[in-house]
This record gives sequence, C-alpha cells and structure tokens, in this order.
Amino acid sequence: MSSHPSLVILTGAGISAESGLATFRGAEGLWEGHRVQDVATPEGFEHNPGLVHRFYNQRRAALSAVQPNAGHEALVRLEKSWPVEFLLITQNVDDLHERAGSRKLRHMHGELLRTLCIACGESSPWQGGMGPDSFCPQCMKKGKLRPDIVWFGEMPYFMDEIFAALNRCDIFIAVGTSGHVYPAAGFVRTANARGARTIEVNLADTAASESFDERRTGPVTQVLPALVNELLPRRIWSRFSD
Ligand code: OAD
Repeated sequence: MSSHPSLVILTGAGISAESGLATFRGAEGLWEGHRVQDVATPEGFEHNPGLVHRFYNQRRAALSAVQPNAGHEALVRLEKSWPVEFLLITQNVDDLHERAGSRKLRHMHGELLRTLCIACGESSPWQGGMGPDSFCPQCMKKGKLRPDIVWFGEMPYFMDEIFAALNRCDIFIAVGTSGHVYPAAGFVRTANARGARTIEVNLADTAASESFDERRTGPVTQVLPALVNELLPRRIWSRFSD
C-alpha cells in the first residue's frame, strides 16, 4: 500500500436507518406494501405513473423530517482529512450525505431531489411533489418527468468513474448495505482483485460478508466513527514516513 492510500466507500440504506429512513429489506421494508415491479421499474412507471409519483413524493417529503447521523458525519471527517484519493459512492437516494457535508460523492442509484425528463433527457433539481402534469424545468414539456432514480433493469450512474476508482483503491469500505443488489454488491470483489484492504460495516452478516477481509459489526453511528478514528491516525503517521 502506498503512503497515501486511496479510499473508496460504498454506503447503503443502513447508514440512514438511524436517521429514521427505512431500509429496503428490513421487517418494515421501504416498498411500503408495494411490489418492487410496480414502483421501481420502467414498466411499472409506464403502467401507472401516478402511483409511482405518489410513492416517490412521499419519500421526498419524508426527507424534511430526518437529519444526518453520526455515521454520515464520520464520513465527512474522513473526507476532509484524507490527503488524496477519496470517493464516496452511495446507493441511497436521500440527501443525508450532502447535508452532512460530503462533497466527493456519487449517487449511483439517482436522487430523490432530482427529476429526469423523458422528452429532453435532462436531469434537474426538484423539490416538492411531482406528477403526470408537471413541467420539465429545462424543455418546459408537460407530462414527461420521472423521478431521477435508477430503477431495476436500468444502468446505475457513474459506472466508469466508480470502476476506475475501485481499480486503484487501497482501502474499500462497505457500510450498511446488504450485498444483494448488483453491480454494487460486486464492488468488493473488484477491490479484492486489486489487492485492497476490504472492510464491511453492518449490523449483521450479509450476503457479501465472506468477501471482506474485516467486519465491524454494530450500528453505524457507533461502529463507523470508531473505524474513522482508527483510519485517520494511520493517515497522519504515513505523512511522516514520506
Ligand atoms: P438493504 O435494505 O438491502 O440493506 C440494508 C443493510 O443495512 C442491511 O444489511 C442491514 O443489516 C444494514 N443495517 C440496517 N440498519 C443498520 C445500522 N443501524 N447500522 C449498520 N447497518 C445497518 O439496503 P441496500 O443494500 O442499500 O436500489 O439496498 C441496495 C439497493 O436495493 C437500494 O439502493 C435499492 C434497493 O433495491 C434501487 O432502488 C435501485
């Protein structure tokens, strides 16, 4: 490992759980009684856009009632102190990482606070409710907006940049993700192939646990700040070994 290790972090719904946002595969999973096919696929949207808009409008509205937690804040501390390569990849569509202060952040599954116009192809910031009668802020066409969320069967965003970062990372950390959804679930194997140190932070073992060198088990708000404290002194010491 170089004296300025490159760090890639992947987060999932578990990092926002203690802020009050439901995870996908927990007992009261985020699909809220809907079938995934109905609310998280292009076909579901085509079949019933009103239902899909209502589902994401509720989730967008819920953002104003939650705050970033100590896990989000620990990652900001890490980003600010890390000397060179740092990339935070999130599967989450909430805005808690940016509200905490993360900047080197990529939302690979899109964002609740953006809309995508099917007519002009542009993505734009969006607040409040969206529906079949909404106008695109860019091309002004009516009825062509969808939530800018990557649905099942669609290609996640930033894949080239993410795989380039994974292929040169020295440390890869996956936080609060169940390891069920690809391509994110396979990132640890790319990092392993590159020879990176791989660490999983989760409440419990996951479908991907066996691929990690180390596991830190417990709630994100406790385990992640402790891990960040462990990593930062290493970084500071390494500056003196140059
Ligand atoms: P999941 O709901 O599948 O998994 C959440 C993970 O977080 C589980 O492994 C939990 O054990 C863990 N967890 C929950 N609370 C925690 C806490 N307080 N501290 C630590 N760990 C905790 O969510 P994701 O893995 O993010 O995609 O799901 C991946 C993708 O599946 C989502 O981005 C979404 C979904 O389909 C799309 O919508 C495209």
